[in-house]
Amino acid sequence: MAILEVKNIVTTFDTDRGCARALDGVTFSVEKGKTLGIVGESGCGKSVTSLSIMRLLPKPAGNTPEGEIIFNNGSENFDILTLPAKDMLKIRGKKIAMIFQDPLTSLNPVYTVGAQLIETIKLHFPKMKYDEMVNRSIELLNDVGIPAPEKRIWEFPHQLSGGMRQRVMIAIALACEPEVLIADEPTTALDVTIQAQILKLMKDLQKKNNMAIVFITHDLGVVAEMCDDVCVMYAGKVAEQGSVNDIFESPRHPYTQGLLKSIPKLETEQKSKLYEIEGMVPDLFSMPEGCRFQNRCPYAKEVCQQEIPYHDVKENHRVNCIRLGEI
Ligand SMILES: Nc1ncnc2c1ncn2[C@@H]1O[C@H](COP(=O)(O)OP(=O)(O)O)[C@@H](O)[C@H]1O
Ligand SMILES: [Mg+2]
Repeated sequence: MAILEVKNIVTTFDTDRGCARALDGVTFSVEKGKTLGIVGESGCGKSVTSLSIMRLLPKPAGNTPEGEIIFNNGSENFDILTLPAKDMLKIRGKKIAMIFQDPLTSLNPVYTVGAQLIETIKLHFPKMKYDEMVNRSIELLNDVGIPAPEKRIWEFPHQLSGGMRQRVMIAIALACEPEVLIADEPTTALDVTIQAQILKLMKDLQKKNNMAIVFITHDLGVVAEMCDDVCVMYAGKVAEQGSVNDIFESPRHPYTQGLLKSIPKLETEQKSKLYEIEGMVPDLFSMPEGCRFQNRCPYAKEVCQQEIPYHDVKENHRVNCIRLGEI
């Protein structure tokens, strides 16, 4: 069952240069208890997608997205985009929580870890007693693998290492047992050993709470390890979507194929050059008509300058490419 359905989202920003269409009809769904990866180069719209879902786009530049974002869990079924702001406060954190790439900018430096955890718990459980909230905070810190949580709870963010801070962020995100967790490059700033620990932790917590995860990354290796399904984004659009297996075994979009070729392999000779997709992502203000990948695509032809429909390769495998639609 899809707990979150993102339907044809268009997100724009008002800028000095005009209206920037950062997302241009993004559609995907997230299954309950499963992990959906969103992958793509820097600037392709991954963070704008997560901020659109959370309704946290920077104001006043960010406009309310067009389209629908349906949260659907049994009896609860609503469109996030049309929810009154005060109802959104109850959804954020409680139903859908988010962790960001850089825990230092998202943790408040002047409050202790405990104060920040308690603030979140209080927001959603206003009747809970202070002592209970402290105990719950210690339990959460323990769950995310922070040693001596009863001491650490009264420390400030700067007293913790990067990995520990990210664990605190996860603890805050999990404080209200959300049904969907959006993790925007949660391990990019961490070294590989810590990254592996955090990824394992997220998987364990997911199992425990049957939580759905939207895992945003530019690292296909992490996608292979973490995700059930994957959405490949290019320049504000979904280029291809499918199960991890289909995307890795039979990628259909030339962009996905290029991304996969650019992963270094152990067996590759050390001196061989790493494959790189040539060219650059077009500027939001000079997007070509039709396929946005055409200026970098080895197979581009004239029809690619027209609007490209999605082609279903099979159930749960869609691609936005005319070449494959013709087969
Ligand atoms: N506040 C903003 N004002 C104008 N454009 C923005 C703003 N935030 C993001 N964008 C544009 O939206 C596009 C997608 O950005 P983003 O979602 O941050 O990419 P990423 O995939 O690296 O997370 C980029 O072209 C970026 O320049
Ligand atoms: Mg980003």
